[in-house]
Amino acid sequence: MSEKTIKIGIVGFGTVGSGVAKILLEDADHIEARTGIKLELAKVVDIDTKKARPVKLPDGILTDDLNSLLNDKDIQIGIELIGGTTIAKDIQLKMLAAGKDVITANKALLAEHGNELYAAAHKADRCIAFEASCAGGIPIISAIRTGLAANRIKAIYGILNGTCNYILSNMTKKDESFKAALKQAQNKGYAEADPTLDINGQDSAHKLAILSSIAFSCEILPGDIFVEGIENIDIVDIRYGREMGYTLKLLAIGQKTDDGKIFLRVHPSFISGDNALARVDGPFNAVSIFGHAVGQTMFYGRGAGMMPTASAVVADIIEVAMGNSKKLFKHLSLEPKNKVAGIIGKIDELVSRFYIKLRVSDKPGVFAQICTILANHEISLSGVLQHEEHNSHNIVPAIVITHLTQQKKNTAALADLAKLEIVKEKPVCIRIVDIPEDSD
Ligand code: NDP
Ligand code: HSE
Repeated sequence: MSEKTIKIGIVGFGTVGSGVAKILLEDADHIEARTGIKLELAKVVDIDTKKARPVKLPDGILTDDLNSLLNDKDIQIGIELIGGTTIAKDIQLKMLAAGKDVITANKALLAEHGNELYAAAHKADRCIAFEASCAGGIPIISAIRTGLAANRIKAIYGILNGTCNYILSNMTKKDESFKAALKQAQNKGYAEADPTLDINGQDSAHKLAILSSIAFSCEILPGDIFVEGIENIDIVDIRYGREMGYTLKLLAIGQKTDDGKIFLRVHPSFISGDNALARVDGPFNAVSIFGHAVGQTMFYGRGAGMMPTASAVVADIIEVAMGNSKKLFKHLSLEPKNKVAGIIGKIDELVSRFYIKLRVSDKPGVFAQICTILANHEISLSGVLQHEEHNSHNIVPAIVITHLTQQKKNTAALADLAKLEIVKEKPVCIRIVDIPEDSD
């Protein structure tokens, strides 16, 4: 017997919207049995009501008229699933003004305008729930906001983009080309409408902005994050890295130092092949969070796609319907940007190890020249690799792995290396990330 019925309106009947509709139509009974709340899909708004969709809606639900959702006083929850940062923002504000709680998977919008939207929701005495915005089906927002609430969070290491992880895994394990792997990720519904956002690292940065904002309780914008994508990754570097025991991942990293500085970065990262994150393949995401009390935690699951993301949206519906989201949302207060600007660390301050690949003339003294430049910048080598390669140009790859050094010293060394006559192409540089692992 249901304690109450909650009517729901969805805007955007695409990949995620279809998944949410499917769960609401097919699984409302078991959700009611578990929660005592009957969820009813009342309206689905999409600009295209003619397109074939994977889910058949009962008559009278699909419309292209947003006002029919906004003006329906019985609809308590409005779900924005169209994506983008302009019309979507307008729709969310309209839904709040119409007295609806808002649920969204729109990480781009929340990363750019989250604080403004949260303020509008507080003013309207409504809430915004956004579990699906980060790491697809993994309940990572809820983990940070409730499960780990006792902790001062020190670091987040995440594989947060399913498309990039799918591409890198397929390049690594199936020797597939970047282009072919991206095409498959698009066909499977993992990629954004504009996949540039996936592969240039911005989507991961949006998610890192959201996760680190709530983890560190301050407004963090994508512009605060150093971002490099995977668009220039060459399969050859993945192979050399593997030979030396590393796996390539696009990592999103947020760290808070003991003196209160916050470092945020997204970039291709060589991690030890033994690390648990190295075994996260395909569209899966994983997030490792370090809290002062709990130590290391690890969350794993499907990071993209219709049903995993819908699972997170429906989790939000249930939390909003039960009144839990609203209680928690009241306390979502982020230190505004103007107060936190001074504590965001710069990438130049980063201390890291680096993989450097140079394509050099095959002649005597080459390594001596490379080592001299690195030494001039106080950079110590921890490994070198060179394979025999015979080609008409007499150019061979030389790979060096550095010990820990400052990013700014490495950048200066790369500039000097690129000027050497023996260096025939722009050096390739990939950071090596030594993810801490908690152990007894
Ligand atoms: P889709 O492009 O598949 O779906 C969006 C839908 O919204 C389309 O049907 C689109 O119609 C419709 N639409 C566009 N503009 C409007 C409008 N003004 N009014 C009504 N409908 C409109 O996107 P996804 O479902 O993949 O993504 C939705 C959101 O979820 C995005 O914010 C995305 O970043 C996020 N997300 C997606 C995940 C995924 O795995 N796909 C995972 C996690 C989050 P048309 O096609 O005709 O333009
Ligand atoms: N395009 C995103 C990804 C969808 O590939 O991770 C999930 O947010």
